[in-house]
Amino acid sequence: MVMHAAQSCPGIGERLDDILERTGSELEKGLVPVNIFANADIFDAEMERIFAKSWVFLGFESEIPDKGDFMQRRIGRDSVIVTRDTKSAIHVLANFCRHRGTKLCQTDVGNQSHFRCPYHGWVFKNNGDWIGAPDKSKAYAGLDPKDWGLLKAPHVESFLGMIFASLDPNAPTLMEYLGGAAWFMRGLMDLHPGGMSPMGPPDRYKVRGDWKTGSENFGGDGYHVGVAHGSVQTIELAQGFDVLNNFSTHYVIPGGHSFLGHDFDSMFGPDGHVWYYPSDIQEHFDLDRLDPLLQDVVKKNPPIVGTIFPNLSFLRFFGPPSPGKPPAVYTSWRQWQPSGPGEMELWSWQLKWNFMDEQQAADSYAAGQFGFSSAGIFEQDDTVVWEGAPEAARSVWARKENTAFNMQMGLEGMGQQKLDESWEGPGEAWRPGPGEPSQRAFYRHWLSQMVESGK
Ligand code: FES
Ligand SMILES: [Fe+2]
Repeated sequence: MVMHAAQSCPGIGERLDDILERTGSELEKGLVPVNIFANADIFDAEMERIFAKSWVFLGFESEIPDKGDFMQRRIGRDSVIVTRDTKSAIHVLANFCRHRGTKLCQTDVGNQSHFRCPYHGWVFKNNGDWIGAPDKSKAYAGLDPKDWGLLKAPHVESFLGMIFASLDPNAPTLMEYLGGAAWFMRGLMDLHPGGMSPMGPPDRYKVRGDWKTGSENFGGDGYHVGVAHGSVQTIELAQGFDVLNNFSTHYVIPGGHSFLGHDFDSMFGPDGHVWYYPSDIQEHFDLDRLDPLLQDVVKKNPPIVGTIFPNLSFLRFFGPPSPGKPPAVYTSWRQWQPSGPGEMELWSWQLKWNFMDEQQAADSYAAGQFGFSSAGIFEQDDTVVWEGAPEAARSVWARKENTAFNMQMGLEGMGQQKLDESWEGPGEAWRPGPGEPSQRAFYRHWLSQMVESGK
């Protein structure tokens, strides 16, 4: 009997390498195959080739201010403990015991000098060092503690009070990784020397959507706002969503990062300056901290959303904290935490400026929760429509037909968007909207990581 190697068929039963190759040729046309949104091989490769390689956001320094503080976070699907040791140094430790793998830390946050395993009782210091075991002299007399400490992320760095880690020993520095995105992040977070901090632990909720969809949407999908969030306009909570897309600038930065700016002055008049912040907030800002071009972006074309590759996104928008009250501006950093093929958890931190008084912070929090939280009017719109991509990816029919999704908006022959040759900031600026240059750039970078890191 002659054995034939199993054929890799496009759509159904397609092998990882073939899906990636096909994604490359589809992307040249501005298309993305449906297969990448709920495929176990793709998901596993994403964990190895993207999440174990990139700089991944873990939280804010101000969440663990004191020696001994810790918080349980994630890198991809891995649980990690972010600790502050007795010398105030921050460590990122794999959250499993080296003896038999039991989860060491089962709480979200706390303060501990040591972690004691609930199975047989091995004990580790909060810097990851192995320090002891029950009956050590009888049970493990010859064990070398150096060999049995917790796994430790080789690179941990902070920027603007935000903690990132990379599991790749050969990773570039965080600033090299962020590149031009760091310039934009200063414009979002560094308007005051006191900075920003989260108003609590992250909200967390399950979403039946792919993590990539959250990242690419927040990286620059202005097109959905008038439709998916149309009800916000219908109930007169906000106006102007139907034209918002036409006032957009897509800032596309090498490395898969992007931001979506809006010309607030043209949309809302002089009140729109600097994200529509009211004067009692704006009077605290010191824009001279920023270089002149960044000042100009912040005043006239500020990013309302953005994505740092792979799964960290930014949001700053405004809305009433309660019906009839004047709008308050809110800020959220959010993470699309991959849970499995086509499934994620959305983690969202709401931030305040540290100079804010209690009322200002409360108004900003209420406005943000009203817009973006598990019950938020915008968040519900988004998370429901995002369920579609993995559903389509599970459809035999969709895969049999080699279905691809369309990200061609703004390409030659499709739209009016042009590369702004006069842009002197980092990366590229594409305007006016509508367009999908950031989506294409996100998936091109995703593909480059999936292919290069897989070699
Ligand atoms: S599994 Fe942790 S001590 Fe045995
Ligand atoms: Fe949205």
